[in-house]
Amino acid sequence: MTAFPKTSALMKRGTEFLGSEYAILCGAMSWVSERGLVSAISNAGGFGVIACGAMTPELLDTEIAATKALTAKPFGVNLITMHPQLFNLIEVCKKHGVTHVVLAGGIPPKGSVEAIKEFGAKVIVFAPTLALAKKLLRSGGDALVVEGMEAGGHIGPVSTSVLAQEFLPELSEDHLVFVAGGIGRGEAIAGYLEMGAVGVQLGTRFACATESIAHPNFKKAFFRANARDAVASVQVDPRLPVIPVRALKNKGTEEFTAKQREVAAMLDSEGLEMMEAQLQIEHYWAGALRRAVIDGDVENGSLMAGQSVGMVKEEEPVADIIAQLMSQCEAALDRR
Ligand SMILES: Cc1cc2nc3c(=O)[nH]c(=O)nc-3n(C[C@H](O)[C@H](O)[C@H](O)COP(=O)(O)O)c2cc1C
Repeated sequence: MTAFPKTSALMKRGTEFLGSEYAILCGAMSWVSERGLVSAISNAGGFGVIACGAMTPELLDTEIAATKALTAKPFGVNLITMHPQLFNLIEVCKKHGVTHVVLAGGIPPKGSVEAIKEFGAKVIVFAPTLALAKKLLRSGGDALVVEGMEAGGHIGPVSTSVLAQEFLPELSEDHLVFVAGGIGRGEAIAGYLEMGAVGVQLGTRFACATESIAHPNFKKAFFRANARDAVASVQVDPRLPVIPVRALKNKGTEEFTAKQREVAAMLDSEGLEMMEAQLQIEHYWAGALRRAVIDGDVENGSLMAGQSVGMVKEEEPVADIIAQLMSQCEAALDRR
């Protein structure tokens, strides 16, 4: 017997795949999604995902072990495909018998999906277009996250509502699709489930949970912000294809413009390779996000946040957030 029969029925394929009670993933957030928040999400019946970000294999090893000590429930590990030690990180996941690996940040390099599946883990992929989604699902991806530009962090150009209409009718019968980006309430979850999604992924709504280690200044900035304050970064040099990042406007947003100019100049003068230039940009983001999340420097750091930030008003335990989302979803389905 479940308290949310209609929602649970629509989430069934998602919960079976994840091994969790609810098909609500807390998307990996660099610096935020560490052992404390990940275990709290999984212990509350959701699905936590460790953000490996720029971690070394040694740090990831420690983080997985520490998370396992805090929860016996399933959780995942998010790896960034352009990490120079991706295959070593996969080895660490293998050592710990990680059950779900999320590959984010671009097309998985040759052999990575196979290396993960080889030790029995499920692979969750992201895809910005339907054609790429089909290709990744054909070549070993077990589930897909469709993420719209309302989301916090790195984003694509298309909104969640449009992506959902494009992807779900084509894919949902034969594949497992989770929808992410801009979800703040359960009514929206009900809509995506009815369209064929098997679950959802949220980040912004969980970033300031009681169990999140984010600095009190970071949390206060979220509570004060409105949807329109979470803006996408602007690309200043057409040669440097930086992936836009959605974050709250502050001085750090301007500094990113300067950083891009600096890297673009290096492309000219030092013959910097494009891949290396992009890595430098990503290191910049990792450092800027750390300054805001860990040090509480909300002026110069990066306050990555999605447009749903306007619905984050106070610190709440993750169990309460999940319960609210589930009951709002169930009530919406009941009203149909
Ligand atoms: C502070 C912050 C950091 C994030 N870092 C990552 C990351 O390291 N890797 C990743 O794949 N997604 C990252 N994301 C995206 C989330 O995993 C999630 O997909 C997104 O937040 C969902 O959209 P929402 O913000 O509208 O809920 C981040 C999001 C936020 C808000």
